[in-house]
Amino acid sequence: MSDGFRHHHLLGIADLDRDDVNQILDAAESFIEVSRRPVRKVPTLRGKTLINMFFEASTRTRTSFELAGKRLSADVVNISASGSSVSKGESLLDTCKTLEAMRPDLVVIRHSASGAPHFVANQIGCSVINGGDGSHEHPTQALLDAFAIRKSLGTLSGLKVAIIGDITHSRVARSNAALLKLFGSEVRFCAPYTLMPTGAETLGVRVFHDLASALEGADVIMLLRIQRERLEGPLVPSMREYSRQYGVSQRHLALANPRAIVMHPGPMNRGVEINSALADSERSVILDQVEAGVAVRMAVLYLLAKELRVQTARQAASDAG
Ligand code: CP
Repeated sequence: MSDGFRHHHLLGIADLDRDDVNQILDAAESFIEVSRRPVRKVPTLRGKTLINMFFEASTRTRTSFELAGKRLSADVVNISASGSSVSKGESLLDTCKTLEAMRPDLVVIRHSASGAPHFVANQIGCSVINGGDGSHEHPTQALLDAFAIRKSLGTLSGLKVAIIGDITHSRVARSNAALLKLFGSEVRFCAPYTLMPTGAETLGVRVFHDLASALEGADVIMLLRIQRERLEGPLVPSMREYSRQYGVSQRHLALANPRAIVMHPGPMNRGVEINSALADSERSVILDQVEAGVAVRMAVLYLLAKELRVQTARQAASDAG
């Protein structure tokens, strides 16, 4: 039974339980309606300030956090490494302390270093949301994926979810595995040996190196790109060879559950991990994932800000008493 969302930060799925996830997804159900109205705005976060700090490139996460904040009537400021004093050598800590002095309520951080949002959360007072840290976690991506799966298949439990691609460098794979395990679904990681982290089984997933076996009876097929920006050297013989062995196209759907959906967190490399016809097919929910991204991020901002209000009221009562 829920007794409210009791988190000051959203740093990883590892910190959430099933009830927390359900609260976020249920709140997102109402926020998706807001995004479909002619006037896509509610006053929920009026007077609150959200700072989006993106030290790595992003289209989906940055835009959807900005829209989420604006649709909730928050004041939203976006900072990128190239346009900020980070490019002059200012440290992450000094940047965060500087921004904190301007009294934001919520800060979103994307950073190439695993653990950067956790470091910042230990140093500043406002709520910190992980917008993707290195190869570690991308919690709002897993939440929006869960929203899209629940919408399409009606449940998050008892599913077989095949996650195929560059698992080693994927924060999306880690966050999805953690979330889906909370609901008792079977998560399968599939990659060549060179793109599968050592000890992946310890995450509670089944490990496959053969695509056909991983797809057998799958309810969800989630494809990941090879993160060339994180590779220190060539880990596959060539993109053509990788695509031949691990690229998924419509013919592979025959191996999966007949109702299987196809997902991709984006950005896609069409013709490498996914063929274009499959990406644009009726089985693809890739654009539903994008739509869910705004609603889920609205839900996260709303629940964290609500917890801030509860803390402030408790502090005021304690000061008065
Ligand atoms: N899925 C995702 O994080 O996409 P962006 O890098 O465009 O934000």
